[in-house]
Amino acid sequence: MNAPSFYVRDVPIYGNTVLAPMSGYSDLPFRSICRSLGSAMSYTEFVAAPGLLRNIPSLYRKLLFTPAERPIVFQIYGAREDELVEAALRIQELQPDIIDINMGCWSPAVADNGAGAGLLCDPSKIGHIFARLTQALEVPVTGKIRLGWDDSSLNHRLVARILAENGASLIAVHGRTKAQAYKGNANWQAIAEVCQTVSIPVLGNGDVKSPADITRMMAETGCQGVMIGRAAIGNPWIFAHKEREQVTPAERAEMLIRHMTLAIEYYGAELGFDLFQRHATKYISGFAGAAHLRASLANAKNPSGVLYELTAFA
Ligand SMILES: Cc1cc2nc3c(=O)[nH]c(=O)nc-3n(C[C@H](O)[C@H](O)[C@H](O)COP(=O)(O)O)c2cc1C
Repeated sequence: MNAPSFYVRDVPIYGNTVLAPMSGYSDLPFRSICRSLGSAMSYTEFVAAPGLLRNIPSLYRKLLFTPAERPIVFQIYGAREDELVEAALRIQELQPDIIDINMGCWSPAVADNGAGAGLLCDPSKIGHIFARLTQALEVPVTGKIRLGWDDSSLNHRLVARILAENGASLIAVHGRTKAQAYKGNANWQAIAEVCQTVSIPVLGNGDVKSPADITRMMAETGCQGVMIGRAAIGNPWIFAHKEREQVTPAERAEMLIRHMTLAIEYYGAELGFDLFQRHATKYISGFAGAAHLRASLANAKNPSGVLYELTAFA
């Protein structure tokens, strides 16, 4: 086997593209597909620390994974140091390889309550949280950040330095502020600044849409790896450095069936089919026959009703 691309403390990472955590999308079926095509590690969707402490079963379900997904990163969010530490200790028992703290979620329900990107408003609190976490946990602890709350409070360099000084083993940086949500372009120059500030590995994130973008982001920022979110939905082949147009119709049809089968195995027929649909529309968008297949998917009562159409999509 080749040498690792980088280490998250003592966890070797083979490869330099990683599926981004995406609530509602980066579940076990989709993560498994991306991991098999080259995503170098698996991040769970973010999970609320307070909910974990209240033992909400649906949240623990989001932390199920398969051995083939390792290294597996459990991502949690919360506003309170004690809650984050307690929740992290509890989920460490489920044997993740890494635990990650979300400091990027812009949703008002999260950020306005001091969690997610809300933490960026208080860098010294981030320092305390990471000092406690890295002291309490056996697994490496990592953080995913944005550039700051808004353009007038960019603090990515400060936050990155504080994370590294308090034991973080990797930083993923989405090159936008909280205020931007997904507007404008991701600022790759700012990602480069984080890379220059710390010596722990950095995953650059934001607007990587093609294999050429992967190469360009690595060259322009000096990041150790590239995290890909939206462009991977319906296009997991990006982790095999393949252009979307290079994927043959037969491969696409096979993947649709594989994804649907995994989703149904994991969630059961009804919920599995439902969750698969949001991926399916992305797999097919822009290709001939997409409108017809989209209508068949929407009208289908059950998975077997669309198997023929999925196969015919080839
Ligand atoms: C639907 C959706 C859900 C997301 N959920 C999460 C999440 O649970 N945790 C997280 O850290 N980021 C989350 N993100 C942000 C992504 O991880 C990533 O930072 C962002 O999409 C920018 O990368 P991209 O341009 O490659 O999509 C989410 C993004 C989307 C579009």
